[in-house]
Amino acid sequence: MLRTHTCGELRMNHVNSEITLCGWVQRSREMGGLTFIDLRDRYGITQLVFNQDVSPALCSEARKLGREFVVKARGKVAERSNKNPKMPTGDVEILVEELTVLNISKTPPFTIEDNTDGGEELRMKYRYLDLRRQVNKKNLELRHRLSFETRNYLDAQNFIDIETPYLIKSTPEGARDFVVPSRMNPGQFYALPQSPQTFKQLLMVAGFDRYYQIVRCFRDEDLRADRQPEFTQIDCEMSFVTQEDILNTFEGLARHLFRKVLNLETGDFPRMSYTDAMMLYGCDKPDIRFGMTFSDVTLLMKGKGFKVADDAELIAGIRADGCAEYSRKQLDELTDYVKRPQVGATGLLYIRYAADGSIKSSVDKFYTADDLAGILKQCGAAPGDLVMILAGQTEKTQKALCELRLEMGRRLGLMKAGEFKPLWVTDFPLLEWDEETKRFYAKHHPFTSPKPEDIALLDTDPGLVRANAYDLVINGVEIGGGSIRIHNKELQHKMFQVLGFTEEDAQNQFGFLMNAFEYGAPPHGGIAFGFDRWSMIFGGGDSIRDFIAFPKNNSGRDVMIDSPSEIKEEQLKELNIRLANQLK
Ligand code: AMO
Repeated sequence: MLRTHTCGELRMNHVNSEITLCGWVQRSREMGGLTFIDLRDRYGITQLVFNQDVSPALCSEARKLGREFVVKARGKVAERSNKNPKMPTGDVEILVEELTVLNISKTPPFTIEDNTDGGEELRMKYRYLDLRRQVNKKNLELRHRLSFETRNYLDAQNFIDIETPYLIKSTPEGARDFVVPSRMNPGQFYALPQSPQTFKQLLMVAGFDRYYQIVRCFRDEDLRADRQPEFTQIDCEMSFVTQEDILNTFEGLARHLFRKVLNLETGDFPRMSYTDAMMLYGCDKPDIRFGMTFSDVTLLMKGKGFKVADDAELIAGIRADGCAEYSRKQLDELTDYVKRPQVGATGLLYIRYAADGSIKSSVDKFYTADDLAGILKQCGAAPGDLVMILAGQTEKTQKALCELRLEMGRRLGLMKAGEFKPLWVTDFPLLEWDEETKRFYAKHHPFTSPKPEDIALLDTDPGLVRANAYDLVINGVEIGGGSIRIHNKELQHKMFQVLGFTEEDAQNQFGFLMNAFEYGAPPHGGIAFGFDRWSMIFGGGDSIRDFIAFPKNNSGRDVMIDSPSEIKEEQLKELNIRLANQLK
């Protein structure tokens, strides 16, 4: 090795040792006859000292070093007179006796500091420099620990890691596919997998029993803070299990990760049905770090001559404790917030229940004091509280009130960093009606099993069928989702029928799976976790991008390698592809 130690390692017990460090020059400064250099590597920063009086030649060499030069320094560890308690190596410094420049560096386009002066786009372009920053390094280290501990846990539980193909077949269900043209099969395309779903089910038919893979998935969907076009799943499948077995096994994984990676003990994870989640929080991934659950006040507010309420399908409120004194300005801000197109409400109604017991509302005209008191009671309000109410079509109102609840949670500091509240959401509906195409879509995917007691409803009222499907949510982020699968050919067939597949479509797209089910498919089920999201939550981040070594930007571009990019005419020809502007 070129070095004896790392830049994060030296402490008081190393004083007087002869050591050699290698690293990058973080910064240098001169004070009197001394030159100080902060030398950085993956593990930390150590201060090097050069003394003009002791070795003028060495000192002048050190003064020539630029930021990010790569150097090797040999010397003796000494106790610092001016200790830096903020740095793990802050008690010591190196009195350098020999200095070798291993490589020079151009001046980086931004400072390699936690609080860098580089904008996002610039840092993405020079991602390898951005990754030199401690924050990013920590994130990738955390990601590594998570992956390592996931493997440890699953291996101990007899799961086996099996790779599945990346070049597969396009199917119109789910998100859009990324496709890859096949040179050897003109006019035909592979698709990159959105998940290894069908393959893991085939592995169960093959008898592998417990499978896992930390695997890249590809989805051509609009990007958000928690979505990348290529992302990683911890993908798992088990045979001969019930939903309960799966929830227990993977709650075990989550607890193991909390313990090993964050040193946190978590109790049993609460569970909530999809219906309750929607009724109480207006979404299927509630952040339960705080309460502020919805109260349904529809019956109390309808029929009093207030048109907004009379026309509404749902009227629901949330209670903000101790917020009765919110100013007009604050309430106007919240009204503007709910009226944003992304939130979608038409207005905000409120009732202030002042500390002295007096009640004042934005709808005094339509409701008597008794009416208002009834609504406050329904919302569990006490003097000093503010009740905020939205009215309208059910789903829209739930969505908007959910957003308002989260906004209030942020404003009131109720979503505490470092606090983790996992939750299983269960009993998802099997199907989702799409008004535009006038058909049902699988809420999870077409292989999800209906609850046995609901199977008969497939013929009469498919929208009401509940699935053996579940999500793991932590702090309002959907970390993972899965289901018990259909393992019976007839039921799978029926499911395709309900989804509006013709016999031919079903055979073309999923014939391989249905055929496999004729050869003794075991009962099975599984789950997949968003590994990037899990890293983000554990790392206290707000974008998965910060936990991916080389992510794409919001337009799906890798600005470092400049991709996607055009390809040469010859390549296109070879692939039998003509661009739209060449089609005449
Ligand atoms: P699902 O589609 O719910 O299920 O995906 C599982 C988990 O993957 C994560 N995820 C994403 N993370 C980052 N960027 C994306 N674009 C993205 N899309 C999804 C989420 C999500 O919970 N095959 C099934 C699982 C199963 O049934 O076993 C599946 O893929 O955290």
